[in-house]
Amino acid sequence: MHRYSLAHSRRLSCPANAPCLSSQTRAPAELRRRRLLSPSSSSSSSSSSSSSSSSSSSSALVPSLPSSCPPPEEGAEERVASYGPLVGALRRHLPPRRGQRPPRVACPGCGLGRLPFELAAMGYEAQGNEFSYHMLLGSHFVLNCCLEPESHEIFPFVLCSANRRGASDHLRSVRIPDVCPRTALPPNARLSMAAGEFVEIYGDQPGEWDAVASAFFLDTAKNIFLYIRVIASMLRPGGLFINMGPLLFHYSHMPSQVSVELSWEELRPFIWGWAARRDVAGEEGRGTTEGMGRRERGSPRCKYFVAKRNTEPVTGKSNPVY
Ligand SMILES: C[S@@+](CC[C@H](N)C(=O)[O-])C[C@H]1O[C@@H](n2cnc3c(N)ncnc32)[C@H](O)[C@@H]1O
Repeated sequence: MHRYSLAHSRRLSCPANAPCLSSQTRAPAELRRRRLLSPSSSSSSSSSSSSSSSSSSSSALVPSLPSSCPPPEEGAEERVASYGPLVGALRRHLPPRRGQRPPRVACPGCGLGRLPFELAAMGYEAQGNEFSYHMLLGSHFVLNCCLEPESHEIFPFVLCSANRRGASDHLRSVRIPDVCPRTALPPNARLSMAAGEFVEIYGDQPGEWDAVASAFFLDTAKNIFLYIRVIASMLRPGGLFINMGPLLFHYSHMPSQVSVELSWEELRPFIWGWAARRDVAGEEGRGTTEGMGRRERGSPRCKYFVAKRNTEPVTGKSNPVY
């Protein structure tokens, strides 16, 4: 039996949108085996030595986009669009190899931990990082407390009275998890969660990581320079910085908060300064809008890139903005 412990625990935050957990259980559910990844990315895995473990475990855990908690089938579609390119890039450039130490991949701001779960299932040593106490509670519950798929019923929208079409939209429930980490992950899977603020945790881990896979995270920064600087410092030369997400800076609509809000054009030279090679695939990925998990998706302009760390040392300093 696995138990995924916290690798670190530092400053946590408690935002308002936690899913409501019901403790109801139900009789063993038929397992829904939905693939997370597109056929192309999963087929490429067959050449990888550790891929045998991945095939049985690439289905939805919990709705992975915490802002709207869509039903699992909708969530799966979004994960393919948003996580598929990240996972595909890792498979192409940094595949796990039999007999070798698994590549270490950090997933900052991982929400409910879906991405590190997928990577661990594929043979990576994956670490999720999150500072929201509510997110951590959710991922802990699924990783460590759920015994079988669809064993619990949650009501993700029950406190959400806005933007309903039907009178009982907010009473719609979702069964979780649709895949259970305890049974889906192989016994030797390497998955951990680092609880706390990203900069505080990774700011003093120079060169310790083979890759950073960030999904919908960079724009959570108050000072994005600081995030990028930390990512550059934690990657070994040749390590990969793979990103998917928009520049919808989280603090931009809060007049009382100071934040650095740059365009991609302004940000790019700063990132490329630490990159020996880079590959920008343009705008992909998909987030969700608020709206009771209905098909009311927004289309954030996501930036997807793969940057290979050069040997340029990380000098200078970026100030935190609190
Ligand atoms: C937009 S969500 C994306 C979640 C997840 N990566 C996904 O793709 O669904 C951003 C997440 O980053 C977390 N976060 C924001 N700032 C953080 C920080 N400085 N350190 C750690 N986590 C942070 C938030 O709590 C939130 O769960």
